Amino acid sequence: MARWTRPLLLTGAALLATPCVAAPTPTPTPTPTPASHRIDLDGYSFKLDGKRVYIWSGEFHPYRLPSPDLWRDILQKMKAAGFNATSIYFSWGYHSPAQDVYDFTGVRDMDRLLDIAAEEGVYVIARPGPYINAEVDSGGFPLWLTRQAVRNRSDDPAYLALADEWMAKIDAIIARHQYSDGRGSVIAYQVENEYYRGDQPGARAYMEHLKTQATAHGITVPLIGNHDANFVSGTGALKVDGWDYYPQGFDCSHPDVWKPVPDMAIKRVPDQPLITPEFQGGAFDPWGGPGYAKCATLINDRFASVFYKQNIAAGATLQNFYMVYGGTSWGWQAIPQNYTSYDYGAAITEGRQFDAKYAEDKRIGYFTHAVAPLTMTVGARSAGLDNEAIIDVARRNPETDTQFHYLRHADSTANATDSVHLDLSVAGHRYKRVPQAPDTAITLNGRQGKILLAGYALGPTTLVYSTSELMTHALIAGREVALIYGDAGQPGETVLRATTRPTVEVLDGTVAQDWSNGDLRLNYTHGGVTRVRISGAGFARPLLLLIADKDAAATFWRRDTAAGAVLVRGTHLLRVATLSGNTLDLSGDIGSDGAVEVFADTGTVRWNGATIHARPTPSGSIAATLPTARPIKLPALTWRMHDEAPEIEPGFDDSEWTTADRTVTTSITKPEALPVLFADDYGFHTGNIWYRGHFQAGGATGVTLKAISGGKAGAVSAWLNGQFLGSVQGETLEKTFTFPAGAVKAGADNVLSVLTVNMGHEEDYDDGSDNRTARGLTFAALSGGTGPITWLLQGVRGGEAMVDTVRGPMNNGGLFGERSGWSLPGFPDRGWQPASLPASATKAGVTWYRSTTRLALPKGQDSSIALDITDDATRPYRATIFVNGWQMGNYVNQLGPQHRFPIPTGILNPNGINTIAIAVWNTQAGGGLGRVSLVDLGSYKSSLRVAMVPSPGYKAGE
Ligand code: GAL
Repeated sequence: MARWTRPLLLTGAALLATPCVAAPTPTPTPTPTPASHRIDLDGYSFKLDGKRVYIWSGEFHPYRLPSPDLWRDILQKMKAAGFNATSIYFSWGYHSPAQDVYDFTGVRDMDRLLDIAAEEGVYVIARPGPYINAEVDSGGFPLWLTRQAVRNRSDDPAYLALADEWMAKIDAIIARHQYSDGRGSVIAYQVENEYYRGDQPGARAYMEHLKTQATAHGITVPLIGNHDANFVSGTGALKVDGWDYYPQGFDCSHPDVWKPVPDMAIKRVPDQPLITPEFQGGAFDPWGGPGYAKCATLINDRFASVFYKQNIAAGATLQNFYMVYGGTSWGWQAIPQNYTSYDYGAAITEGRQFDAKYAEDKRIGYFTHAVAPLTMTVGARSAGLDNEAIIDVARRNPETDTQFHYLRHADSTANATDSVHLDLSVAGHRYKRVPQAPDTAITLNGRQGKILLAGYALGPTTLVYSTSELMTHALIAGREVALIYGDAGQPGETVLRATTRPTVEVLDGTVAQDWSNGDLRLNYTHGGVTRVRISGAGFARPLLLLIADKDAAATFWRRDTAAGAVLVRGTHLLRVATLSGNTLDLSGDIGSDGAVEVFADTGTVRWNGATIHARPTPSGSIAATLPTARPIKLPALTWRMHDEAPEIEPGFDDSEWTTADRTVTTSITKPEALPVLFADDYGFHTGNIWYRGHFQAGGATGVTLKAISGGKAGAVSAWLNGQFLGSVQGETLEKTFTFPAGAVKAGADNVLSVLTVNMGHEEDYDDGSDNRTARGLTFAALSGGTGPITWLLQGVRGGEAMVDTVRGPMNNGGLFGERSGWSLPGFPDRGWQPASLPASATKAGVTWYRSTTRLALPKGQDSSIALDITDDATRPYRATIFVNGWQMGNYVNQLGPQHRFPIPTGILNPNGINTIAIAVWNTQAGGGLGRVSLVDLGSYKSSLRVAMVPSPGYKAGE
């Protein structure tokens, strides 16, 4: 259904039930009288319109994916995995290039993002800061805040005035999308971020101020925190203040070494639900780090199985995983410590593909939604166990008496395989040894947790217990369809209660049955999908039991439409399901396997708009084979090159440059000498910054330079009168460069040319105003000579009054090529020299490489493409990568580890001309550029449609 044919007003069940397919985005018609909704919370859970919900949420940062149609892709992928919510940081600095200047258009259109979330039926936890941390430059503070000597994150009135400026803008947007007002899907609003200073002077006043502002700006959803219960009462108290947990930390280099599970249960605040606004969903990786594949191993599907289920067993009813899609710190958004990719080892990779954790998140997520009693639980007595290596953390619902037994190794880090039997009492019956079948047991296969249900209403039937885990169940076409799972090859036992012996038909696989005392006991081995139909007078509703092994379970998708639940087995991704009348519209993605099976109460089934020819199956479902994706072919890239850096030449005209003449600074770095050289003081906040120092001192024998780039990937190169003096790289950038004999011209103008780079500003985690640590040159002094140096500097065109407002304040730095449009599509490079890669550089300096290439990828397919650079890691160079003018990566050949740069569709044109421009900074002779190629990260026949992000190309004279 196209977006404009649907009412904007999405309420209650409809909000979650009727997502729509990707489509062009006309302006929505405002709905005149939105119906309001209630959002309550108590000691158990959130309640929406009185109904308790388990909030299974994934963190997503729109500023890390500059292609609005892909926001829909990510939210659809989350929703498909059972994430009914997303937690979103809004980054102040992303929207504000200068004080009082704000942009919420294009890739910054947050109204559009929140519309998409509502359309896809995804609740939103809005996190607008003003400080967000998030491994983003300045922790989300705008870069112009480096020029404000205010006490960040405090009740300093000067800071509050600036923060209010942002809050007023972003709150107005969030307020337009609140579930409480019936206008969208925002259900909670987080005030500040990890602000643990509840007992410090001014801290409570600060929190109270932000709360008052939010309310004044129309925020009506609950104000929540991730401040580890620092703000549960008194001034600044929030409706609920939850917990952030990263139990494995961030060192991905030993991904098999686990730390123990935290016990969240002891963190419970009376009358507040137990929530984790952030729980570890991956880890960030530093420059020179082990790479994100290792982070994905550290925080893998087994981590999810043990840790996320432990949180459930502790009673948590809101879990948000940071990150579920990490994305790209494109442009200069990364913090100094981290490189461009923010893949995070998350469930959905930077290139929008599924990691193994996606399947585990889905298995658990589906369970949290299907089993309503989970939203109201208290601690309960553990079952008796016959193996001390395993423990049971138990809960029960006080109203339904449903039991939840979370089994894990007593030592949660244990990798052993251990088996156990339970002594379980359910509704007055005691089962002394579960499983009852001889020679079977419940096994934990290495690092694994299992939540077993007992005394649960599976529709109208009582599930006495199952040693398989329940993934989901629903009433579909007059019968209950339940999907349970276990490890392939392991035995399972499920006991159902019935008043008379039911009829058991095994439709597929092998199942043994036993009937005694009102219990129907089924025994089987998990493998593929075993199918059993159970019916009869003792069964109020027939039950189709789908018994899957873990992998097979993950091939099922469940969607809830306005006309009932739908279960689909197969396809790469089921994005949307709409059931109306007798027609079920499904849309999604297919890779190389076209097999699909649909359980739904329907006649006609359409896939991506076309009616499918399905055959009925003995399971009461329909099966069909859908068209598969076409293989894709990517062209080899051809290149032209041009040397740059005229700033090196003594005769270069720098008369328009900014003179470094300030004698005071807002930086927290103390200048060692005046004038102040720090780039931020002159409004240059991003990327490369050039300095030219003029001096006359004939006797000078060298120059001592100090600079700060931030982090391990720092660098400085210096030239005197066009002669290369050398480079320094790393964290500490200090060096005395000796002038070559005869290089200094006595009594004449001598020119030092110094290239620096700002690798991002520090976050302000400890509110020491660390974002105001200096960047650029910090000190310069001649040795031997006495004369002063007059410094001029140059950064991004326009400084804070940036020229490229579409790509925004983080896209560019001050390389000559950037300032002259060499990064942009349409720049006339025909006169450039043809080049082939790998190429070698004979001298230090800057060289640009450009490639213009036409892509003609199969239409109707969602292809994710990356750019790879491969080279020998000893060659000394750094590269900044632009695709169609968008800066999509910073690469440091000797440092790594990033060699792959996923390019979002919409930035990359899969059906048209693309311009790749790479600015290489050779810090020594012997640099150059390695092999550069396009690679396919995954291509699926898809309902997703992605429009190109409109952005300007080169225009002569501009
Ligand atoms: C949290 C913080 C997030 C992010 C995360 C680590 O402490 O709230 O913004 O920085 O750590 O990735």
